[in-house]
Amino acid sequence: MEDAATEPILEPTDFDTMRVGYGLHTRLDEADLAVGWLPLFTTWLDEAGRRGVREPNAMVLGTVGADGRPSTRTVLCKGVDELGLTFFTTTTSRKGTQLAASGYASVTFPWLVVERQVHLEGACRPLAPEESRAYWRTRPRGSQVAAWASDQSRPVGSVRELESLFAAAEERFAGQDEVPMPERWGGYRLVPDRVEFWQGGRDRFHDRVECVRDGDRWSATRLHP
Ligand SMILES: Cc1cc2nc3c(=O)[nH]c(=O)nc-3n(C[C@H](O)[C@H](O)[C@H](O)COP(=O)(O)O)c2cc1C
Repeated sequence: MEDAATEPILEPTDFDTMRVGYGLHTRLDEADLAVGWLPLFTTWLDEAGRRGVREPNAMVLGTVGADGRPSTRTVLCKGVDELGLTFFTTTTSRKGTQLAASGYASVTFPWLVVERQVHLEGACRPLAPEESRAYWRTRPRGSQVAAWASDQSRPVGSVRELESLFAAAEERFAGQDEVPMPERWGGYRLVPDRVEFWQGGRDRFHDRVECVRDGDRWSATRLHP
């Protein structure tokens, strides 16, 4: 009998069944990006939501630690304007430690259902505590309690231990109208200096337009797919 561990779980042909064709959109015009990335980005974000992307504000955040080793995870974008994108997390988490070490990040919005993605890269710095607190106050109480209970990215012994940490945090703030923001929690702003728009094209001949910031101005360049 063949050793089960050597049998492929998925055959190459299984991946063929996953293949889809692209071509929902008319060609992207780089002239639309002469004014910068923000108008097209907000249009695409809005369209992604309206065309069925669940949590279109979910973005894959890439960071690099002091050892040069990259890591990624999904976070939610909670604000976008000319300054950049904001997101919130535990500042002592793995990503927070890496951001403190490098000061840079990249994010990808993978809007696969609508055959689009946007990458943004640039400096990424903590928000002022008052800006983080303003968002903290809008969060549901349960999420606030969870932020106190979770020492994000650290090992925890068991589910029971995790649940007792949540119960202890609930107990701690019981009877208080407001749960304060923990010191280890806060927001970051990614200030992009490179933004790439990608749209699926027929025959894998996709649209790619790169916007690069030069001082106050943005220049848009079409890239080979
Ligand atoms: C859809 C989605 C949204 C998420 N949003 C956040 C978020 O806004 N902030 C956050 O800290 N973690 C968020 N997470 C969890 C992160 O992906 C990650 O597990 C966590 O932040 C710890 O990452 P780290 O150990 O690399 O620091 C989200 C996960 C998913 C799947």
